[in-house]
Amino acid sequence: MNYKQLGKSGLKVSRICLGSNNFGAQIDETAAIKIILKALDLGINIIDTADIYTHGKSEEIIGKALKGRRDDVIIATKVGMNVGQGPNQTGLSRKHILNQIKRSLKSLETDYIDVYYLHRFDLETPLDESLLTLNDLIREGKVRYIACSNFAAWQIAKSYEVCERLDLEKFIAVQPPYNLLQRGIENELLPFCQQEMMGVLTYTPLRGGILTGKYAKNRPPPAGSRAEFNPRLLERMDKNEYSILENIQGVAKCLGVTMSQLAIAWILRNPIVTAPIVGASSPEQVEENCNALEVKIDDETSKTL
Ligand SMILES: NC(=O)c1ccc[n+]([C@@H]2O[C@H](COP(=O)([O-])OP(=O)(O)OC[C@H]3O[C@@H](n4cnc5c(N)ncnc54)[C@H](OP(=O)(O)O)[C@@H]3O)[C@@H](O)[C@H]2O)c1
Repeated sequence: MNYKQLGKSGLKVSRICLGSNNFGAQIDETAAIKIILKALDLGINIIDTADIYTHGKSEEIIGKALKGRRDDVIIATKVGMNVGQGPNQTGLSRKHILNQIKRSLKSLETDYIDVYYLHRFDLETPLDESLLTLNDLIREGKVRYIACSNFAAWQIAKSYEVCERLDLEKFIAVQPPYNLLQRGIENELLPFCQQEMMGVLTYTPLRGGILTGKYAKNRPPPAGSRAEFNPRLLERMDKNEYSILENIQGVAKCLGVTMSQLAIAWILRNPIVTAPIVGASSPEQVEENCNALEVKIDDETSKTL
C-alpha cells in the first residue's frame, strides 16, 4: 500500500479508501467485518461512512470491526443528510450537527472522529453557524479534522472566507463523485483543490459496480450484485455509456487487467486526487481493487479512455 498526505494536513491516508454505504443492508454484518479486516490487512487505513448509511448500521459495524485497533485507523464520517422527517433532522444547523455527532460517536464506539464531513452544502443554515460548531468539536477533541462532501468550488471558497474572518479550522479535504463516466469535477473543483492544496477523496470510482463490466444491456443483473439489490443503479445508465464501457473493456483487455483495476488506476494517476473511496461486497474484491496500485496507464492509453 502507498500513503499520501491528506491536503495540507499531517494525516497520511492509504491510496485506496474503503467505502461502506452497503454495510448492514446488501452486505450483512459478518460479511462486512470480513471486508473491513481484509482491507486493514492490505494496508488500507481509512474507512468512509456517514450517519445516514443504512440508518446508522454502517457506523455500528465499523465500530465493532475496529475494536482493539481504533487508533490505527482513520474513521471518516458525515453529517447533513436527512436522518428523519423532523425539520431539525437534516442540514447543518448547530442542533443537528451536535445531535448527530453524539449518535455517530456512540455507533462507532469511539470518542473521536478523525475526519468529519459536512455531507452537502446547506443553503438555509448560515455557514458561520456550521463552521463555528465544527470548530468547537475540534476544540473539544471529538473531531480531529473537518472536510466537506458534494460542495462546489465556490461553496468551499465561501467557507474559507468565513474561517479566515472568524479564525476557525478549515476543511482539509473534499469528497466529490469521480469516475470514468462522471468527470464533471475536472473543470473547476479539481483545479481549485490543486490551487488550495486540498485533499480530494473521490467517491463511486466504479460507479457503483457499473465500471466492473458486470452489467450488460438487456440482461438481468448478476445474482448478488448491487443492481439486483437496488435496480435503480442501472436506471441511471444511458445508451452512450454502454458503448463507453465497451471501449474501457477493450483497453483493460489490452493491458491485461480487470475493468475495476483500470477504472481505479485511472483515478490514481490523477495527481490532484488523494485517494478513491472504493466500495466492495467481498474481501476478494478489496484485494483485486488494491492491485490497481500496480497498474500503469501511459499518456497515449489514457487519451483513449
Ligand atoms: N459523499 C457522498 O455523497 C457519497 C455518495 C456515494 C458513495 N460515497 C462513498 O463512496 C463509497 C464508494 O461508492 P460506492 O460503493 O457507491 O461505489 P463504487 O465504489 O463505485 O462501487 C462499489 C461496488 O462495486 C462492486 N465492486 C467493487 N469492486 C469490485 C470488483 N473488483 N469486481 C466486481 N465488482 C466490484 C461491488 O458491488 P456488487 O459486488 O455488490 O455488485 C461494490 O459494492 C461508498 O461506499 C461511500 O463510502 C459517498
